[in-house]
Amino acid sequence: MTKRQMRVAERRDLTDRISEFTLSAAPGETLPGWQAGAHIRVDVPGGDRAYSLIAWDDARSAPDTYVIAVQREEAGAGGSAHMHGLAKGDMIQVAEPKCDFPVVSGQGAVLLAGGIGITPMISMAAALRAAGTDVVLHYAGRTRGVMAYCDALGDLLGDDLHIHCDDDDSALNLDAVIDSLGDRQFYICGPKGMIDGARSKAEAAGVSPDRVHVELFDNGSADAEGDQSFEVEIASTGEVFTVPPGRTIIEVLEESGQDLIYDCQRGDCGICQTDVISGIPDHRDVVLSDAEKAEGKVMQICVSRAKSARLVLDL
Ligand code: FES
Repeated sequence: MTKRQMRVAERRDLTDRISEFTLSAAPGETLPGWQAGAHIRVDVPGGDRAYSLIAWDDARSAPDTYVIAVQREEAGAGGSAHMHGLAKGDMIQVAEPKCDFPVVSGQGAVLLAGGIGITPMISMAAALRAAGTDVVLHYAGRTRGVMAYCDALGDLLGDDLHIHCDDDDSALNLDAVIDSLGDRQFYICGPKGMIDGARSKAEAAGVSPDRVHVELFDNGSADAEGDQSFEVEIASTGEVFTVPPGRTIIEVLEESGQDLIYDCQRGDCGICQTDVISGIPDHRDVVLSDAEKAEGKVMQICVSRAKSARLVLDL
């Protein structure tokens, strides 16, 4: 993947924990254009992190800057702390934009964002609005003071912006949001609990899974207290590997030389989906519907684990 050095041209602190970074290209360089909902991956010590690109208009074809916003995570692995240590003039390494969360053009949309999950929704709302497409945004957070971009979103969307704060009577009512969908597309970005809740309710209300689009914004890991080791058998070779607590199936299998296809490694893109021949998966993704999870025929091996002692995977 092509990467480029970019300079922090501007840093703006939006809330106590969220800062916006404007990254500029080298002088005279034009950056690759991007699709609404896209992200860039930024190198941080020990790996990289994905951050959604932000644009308030529909001009994303030949930009000379990229804008991202980063929330500092106290419990994270240090990526956000590194980003928050950056100042104007610092250089960072950035991969080309990629979009796993595109809007369906020409179709009305209800956007639901939780916390820092607002970031991809900004370009999506702007693109839909610029195209004259019906768009409504529900933006939920603990208090208004910790939610970035409220005023600018109000300027963009007017009465089509609904801000929901946990600490007052505007708190998010998922049932009401789902009741309001009509035949529009439903886009959800935020923490896993919000995505799981919204997907379950949409599924129960008979909303076709094709109309529900999700992107996970959660810097916690998929690990849970009490995780146990389990075995994974590769059906094609009969090899068996042990996946201990704190490690993923992908990590263990890659280490043994398996060639695997994956992308997000957080359970929201579906690229690593693998058929399960036997055993009971412990699903921790936001890709599968409740019905698919209950069926247990496929799993996302980047985050999901096992409820049975062994899984036999179609690899
Ligand atoms: S790599 Fe994206 S869901 Fe597993």
